[in-house]
Amino acid sequence: MEIRVEKGVAEKHPSELLLLFSFESPEPLEGPIKVVDREWKGFLSTIINQGDFKGELFQCRLLHTQGALPSKRVLLAGLGKKEEFDLEKWRGAASKAGQWIRDSEIKQFAVQIRSIRGFSEEELAESFVTGLLLGIYQFNEFKTLEREKIRRIEEAVLLGETGEEIGRIKQGIDQGLVISEAVCMARDLANAPSNRITPSALAEKAGEIAKDQGLGVEVFGLNEAEAMGMGAFVAVAKGSQEPAKFIILEYNQGKGMDPIVLVGKGITFDSGGISIKPADRMEQMKADMSGAAAVLGAMQAASRLQLPLHLVGIIPATENLPSGKAYKPGDVLKTLSGQTVEVISTDAEGRLILADALTYSLRYKPKAVIDLATLTGAVVIALGDYVIGLFGNNESLQKTVEEASQKTGEKVWRLPLWDEYFDYIKSDVADFKNVGTRAAGAIIGGIFLSKFVEKTPWVHLDIAGPAFIEKERPFMPKGGTGIGVRLLIQLLRDWR
Ligand code: BES
Ligand code: ZN
Ligand code: ZN
Repeated sequence: MEIRVEKGVAEKHPSELLLLFSFESPEPLEGPIKVVDREWKGFLSTIINQGDFKGELFQCRLLHTQGALPSKRVLLAGLGKKEEFDLEKWRGAASKAGQWIRDSEIKQFAVQIRSIRGFSEEELAESFVTGLLLGIYQFNEFKTLEREKIRRIEEAVLLGETGEEIGRIKQGIDQGLVISEAVCMARDLANAPSNRITPSALAEKAGEIAKDQGLGVEVFGLNEAEAMGMGAFVAVAKGSQEPAKFIILEYNQGKGMDPIVLVGKGITFDSGGISIKPADRMEQMKADMSGAAAVLGAMQAASRLQLPLHLVGIIPATENLPSGKAYKPGDVLKTLSGQTVEVISTDAEGRLILADALTYSLRYKPKAVIDLATLTGAVVIALGDYVIGLFGNNESLQKTVEEASQKTGEKVWRLPLWDEYFDYIKSDVADFKNVGTRAAGAIIGGIFLSKFVEKTPWVHLDIAGPAFIEKERPFMPKGGTGIGVRLLIQLLRDWR
């Protein structure tokens, strides 16, 4: 779809469909819909007063203009209660309207962007584009039948009245495109099966991003990882025939600044290994690389937005499979940090590969390390699938993440990492075990990781809940969500 800005106003602009938003009645009409109503001799007011359109959140109603306006059709779209309006609702409303237009096979629409409740045209345009593109996202790559039935909107025109408005809308569109393309890339990576998205494919993707954006990229194979001493990463990778990759991307517009390192769990398929998982829903473990996908998305967006930062993205990528060469419960692994780990479950593989990746990240003397991982089923038990578990060792970094979370609507909730939890992973034969009790499972995952970041400010985001969903949400079709990408981008844009 092409999205562009044009000079114009709703009541004068010709289009296949004019999209008009309104708050829930009895709120009086305001903004473009009010002007259109006047132009249309109060027709919209009549419809609303009759109770045929209430403006409830995500409500859509189509009208034919019969020549009363330059546009052929009008879609009334509800924003819900005025006092509850925020950008999250706006993204949802843009998505729902977009889905409605697409499903009605209408190919083109126009919408006038005008400041609402103190939000600027730039913010509204960015969030409109984001909600729209994330809402109409479809993963069709592997469908070969009836491809002609795949519906697409071809063009969206965002109207601005004045030169300044147009400038702000343009800016918002550009940012919204960068953000949503990064999220859609992350979704594609999570939705694609593990026979397509192998560790090598992740490395290739990193290479493409690096090439397009002029980033540094380095990829180690298993031999190099072994020679470096990444005993935990290597142990997980050994069970698979698919070559493991340790991927590093670097973007440096930070002018001598110590980097922020983003680390993403890149398990391209998690069978559990010798501690094999039950078959039910095991197919969803193709998305166990969602942390890696978020890191790739954030690196791509940060460089496209030319953020004045020094960023390093690190992705340990491997499958976790059982085989004659696979690591086993009881094995003791020597991590890159020198610390040893007794394997209790080969299904707690994420923390093992992350342990080595976190240790590796310290070579950059980072001012902050943020890891994203579909680490535990336990975080889903604790917080459900709307929320990211937030852990860390640094108050101000955690606050920064929470602020970004509030702006993006990607919810985070803090869980503690008190020293007492460490007792659960004490081992009789090694420095720690990779598994503690079932109780506090998400925290134990976090406590384990904390042993590999020394004193560096660090945040761990357990995205196991929202990374892959079974029921659609306002601007998240079911499947891979690309969670974390918008959170990271917001955090990086606001970094000071
Ligand atoms: N990839 C899983 C966690 C997961 C579960 C992600 C559900 C998304 C949805 C992880 O590697 C895992 O298997 N964790 C174990 C840890 C346990 C053995 C301590 C778990 O959560 O059961
Ligand atoms: Zn696992
Ligand atoms: Zn896993």
